Amino acid sequence: MTIAETKRFNASGPCLSRDHYALPRHSILREIMDLADRKRYFVLKGPPRSGKTTLALAARDELNKTGKHLALYCDLDSLRSVPDPGEAMSAVAANLLRDFDSAGVETATKDVEKDALAKLSSKSAREVAGLRVFLTELSAKLSNNLVIFFDNADCLPGPVLMTFLLQLKTGRENGRQNPFPGSVAFVGRRSVQDLKLKTRPESALTSSFRFFDVISEVLTAADFTPTETRTLYSQHAKATGQVFKKAAARKAWRWTEGQPGLINALAREVVENILSFDYGEVVTASLVDKAADNVMKRRDAHMNSLLANLKDPAMLSFLEPMFSAAEKKPRGRTDLENALSFHDDLRSILDSGLVKQDRVSLRPANPIHATVIARILNKDAKSMLSTSFVAKWLDDKTIDANVALKGFRRFFEHVRRW
Ligand SMILES: Nc1ncnc2c1ncn2[C@@H]1O[C@H](COP(=O)(O)OP(=O)(O)O)[C@@H](O)[C@H]1O
Ligand SMILES: [Mg+2]
Repeated sequence: MTIAETKRFNASGPCLSRDHYALPRHSILREIMDLADRKRYFVLKGPPRSGKTTLALAARDELNKTGKHLALYCDLDSLRSVPDPGEAMSAVAANLLRDFDSAGVETATKDVEKDALAKLSSKSAREVAGLRVFLTELSAKLSNNLVIFFDNADCLPGPVLMTFLLQLKTGRENGRQNPFPGSVAFVGRRSVQDLKLKTRPESALTSSFRFFDVISEVLTAADFTPTETRTLYSQHAKATGQVFKKAAARKAWRWTEGQPGLINALAREVVENILSFDYGEVVTASLVDKAADNVMKRRDAHMNSLLANLKDPAMLSFLEPMFSAAEKKPRGRTDLENALSFHDDLRSILDSGLVKQDRVSLRPANPIHATVIARILNKDAKSMLSTSFVAKWLDDKTIDANVALKGFRRFFEHVRRW
């Protein structure tokens, strides 16, 4: 078998079953199918690189195979820089229509497509209510239950997101009289229920508009278990004959705690970069250690998205006390304001996937994140920290574990006091 014929471990973007090793994730897929059958609106959330897009695409394909549903996938990421709600709503409709082909929809629906496209280009579809009208007309013409996966909905700029959610909310509420998509999945890092929306771009006020009554369930793309990690690695062993020792899979899980993107990144680093596709070589735990070291040193997309999080002042206000003696400073607000802002900040940093919450304490989500945060804070983000910051526990090559642990302990105690 040549290298070109084998699948690869995928370290970026969604997994495609044709090209990449992938876990089927039966249990959450079943939940999604069940929610579609019951015509529910729901959220599929998880930190970056937890496998949300892979799941949404797999669920779309499975739903389309049933013949009961017409499922479409629509990525809203490209609309993050479209400020005009009317223009954005029309682009959402156009994106949905483009997915008809990839959804493998039969020719019978092509007429719907043409008809809908004609309407889309008409003036009325460009107006703010256009998306609701478009979805109503599309649903009316389909005999199947329309299911839509909106990916990265949480990236839309405030006023556009507000319009988008309002259209869906109104359409859903009128759904008894007028046809409307039976199921909508909001896929993203943050649940749309948790987003605070500005009514106008210039407004300092965030609206209390929330999406509670529309969403019936919040599903989470979880990290892989140690068994799932072994199963994924054994797909490669079966395809190529290259053995992953049990200790190697255990080590990979320990470094990543099952973070899906990192589980793949470590395997890919060993197989492709360290062993240069020599499938005769056995993958050992020490090779996984070497891969982890390479991955942490190299700033790939995963590490860069961690770095982007560190620019968030809320994130820094949590992380800084981990590494210095500084207290989280009150910002001249009332206790209630501080408490509310604490909750929002906490939710936002948990959604980033950088840290995890164990009972009442926070900790870096896995040893790779812990090391990368420490290195970035020490080397790159010094200028963002207060002058009281003294990180004497990390030099260029080694970490002084005692001093680092003291820092983490101070951080946990600090969080408990809140
Ligand atoms: N089902 C899966 N099996 C194995 N690895 C996966 C699976 N889903 C995701 N991954 C890993 O996670 C990475 C990110 O997947 P993606 O679906 O793009 O996540 P997200 O949309 O949450 O950012 C992939 O590049 C792959 O490394
Ligand atoms: Mg995604």
